[in-house]
Amino acid sequence: MRRNLVVGNWKMKINHQSAQELVDGLIAGMPAVDADIAVCPPFLYIPEVSQRLANTSISWGAQNVATHIEGAYTGEIAAVMLKDFNCKYAIVGHSERRANYADTDITVAQRFQQAIDAGIIPVLAIGELLEDREQGRTFDVVAKQLNAVIDFAGIDSFQNAVIAYEPVWAIGTGKTASAEQAQEVHLYIRQLLAEKNQQIAENMQILYGGSVKPQNAEALFAMPDIDGALVGGDSLSADSFLKIYSSFQK
Ligand code: PGA
Repeated sequence: MRRNLVVGNWKMKINHQSAQELVDGLIAGMPAVDADIAVCPPFLYIPEVSQRLANTSISWGAQNVATHIEGAYTGEIAAVMLKDFNCKYAIVGHSERRANYADTDITVAQRFQQAIDAGIIPVLAIGELLEDREQGRTFDVVAKQLNAVIDFAGIDSFQNAVIAYEPVWAIGTGKTASAEQAQEVHLYIRQLLAEKNQQIAENMQILYGGSVKPQNAEALFAMPDIDGALVGGDSLSADSFLKIYSSFQK
């Protein structure tokens, strides 16, 4: 059976003080839910967040990881550095990095590989633009983004990976894909994986991301191929994030 998972992506929307308060709020309010939960702070706050979350059931990760293991890459953070602070996860291929920092299918695949090599679970984000959806290209875009990583890193590496389907038009816009729209793409992703490896497809945690809120989480999580969520805006409030997490119980 696949375990459910929610991952909070704090983006660049937090400061030192609010990061501390958010972590303390999460620890204080943690409900007893049999599912996994993690937060991804900006790199700078990972050491402190990791200290506060040690010995709790909340895991942590990074929002990105470098394409190379070490070297002259000014401003980058390597996977092994994240491992030093026991990051369990690293988001790779977030649409904001593809759009604003020139991440390509190849650099996303390199980041994915770096995480795997360091023993970190990559959370591979894929998803179509509004124009792709309107022109009926959703499946093509998702397949291209996923296959680029499978071709580079090999299907076996997906044993230790998570996939996040994030339609770009639903991120930070308040527009959520309907549970049925999301389920359709999640099923497609699982079928793509199954063509390569049935076992990996069955075990893959496929998260939905894009304006997930306490109000829509339950309907999304009720879908057979939606195993959790990658949450942006609503992960910045302990109350909202824990309500989303608690939706697994229902
Ligand atoms: P959102 O962000 O929940 O604010 O839409 C999701 C994401 O970017 O991962």
